[in-house]
Amino acid sequence: MDRTETLPADDAGIARAAALLREGRLVAFPTETVYGLGGDATDDRAVARIFEAKGRPRFNPLIVHLPGLEEAEVVAVFDHRARAVAGAFWPGPLTLVLPLREGAGISPLVTAGLPTVAIRVPAHPVARALLRAAGRPVAAPSANPSGRVSPTRAAHVLDGLAGRIAAVVDGGACAVGVESTILGLDGEPRLLRPGGIPAEALEAALGQPLTTGGSAAKPNAPGQLASHYAPGAMVRLNARAAETGEILVGFGPVKGDLTLSPGGDLVEAAANLFHILREADALAGPQGRIAFAPIPGHGLGRAINDRLSRAAAPRG
Ligand code: TXA
Ligand code: MG
Repeated sequence: MDRTETLPADDAGIARAAALLREGRLVAFPTETVYGLGGDATDDRAVARIFEAKGRPRFNPLIVHLPGLEEAEVVAVFDHRARAVAGAFWPGPLTLVLPLREGAGISPLVTAGLPTVAIRVPAHPVARALLRAAGRPVAAPSANPSGRVSPTRAAHVLDGLAGRIAAVVDGGACAVGVESTILGLDGEPRLLRPGGIPAEALEAALGQPLTTGGSAAKPNAPGQLASHYAPGAMVRLNARAAETGEILVGFGPVKGDLTLSPGGDLVEAAANLFHILREADALAGPQGRIAFAPIPGHGLGRAINDRLSRAAAPRG
């Protein structure tokens, strides 16, 4: 990729950043917690590029950033508890995990195929202006390579991601410096990640204690459940040809009934993965079988293989 632009946090810089986001490019921007690596949450390819730029070996679900409650209600289903905490703590360092609204257009790569979505309305004025100007939901993990420390200055972002993203908006140092608190409200209130808003403040607003422990059935980090992403059909990996009755999903030279990427492009394959899994599942039927062509183990291929091995894992 070409040089990463450093944009000023003024009207012109924000307009440029918003235009880049609308083109499906990646833009890092300041929030009150840490700098986020933003991409259009409705664009599968933009979201795939986020994982690629971070070098993330797994498709963990990402947080969707919106400028206000009104926009958030388009993407997620709020109940009275969600409205109460949103009213008390938004804009601010609180992320809510809520049921995903049908037809909201969020890429399934953002939610890791889950029926829930993590939503955050940041308080930083530059983030808010950018989200308004972009006019669409923005997925944004912290703007650092996977496994490295989260960035709280534009220079930190460039240290890790220069040349891998289109731009960074320089809004100075982040005030909070730790990521947002994540509160699960898709069932009983659960503290999924401690962060910028203390758990006690949430308990006071909800009028009840939070549970923290995940369980085998409901782990804190969705990606940890081995067969979490399993489709209805049985899945076989590293297939070069279909066996009788299988739907073959190809990649590159392995053609298949469907393909993750005819040209063997890992970004395209990642962008297609969740859609193709669903499509193959529908074609295979309830007792059916799906076979996947081998996917190279480098770059986004690691994340794709991680996800496919979960889909193929023995069902508990
Ligand atoms: O402060 C922050 O929240 C920063 C700034 C940039 O806004 N963002 C951030 O995003 O930390 P991210 O994408 O790295 O956070 C992802 C975490 C996942 O590891 C997962 O724990 C949780 O959010 N998460 C996302 N979607 C979820 C879901 N549907 N169910 C449960 N947890 C979810
Ligand atoms: Mg992070």
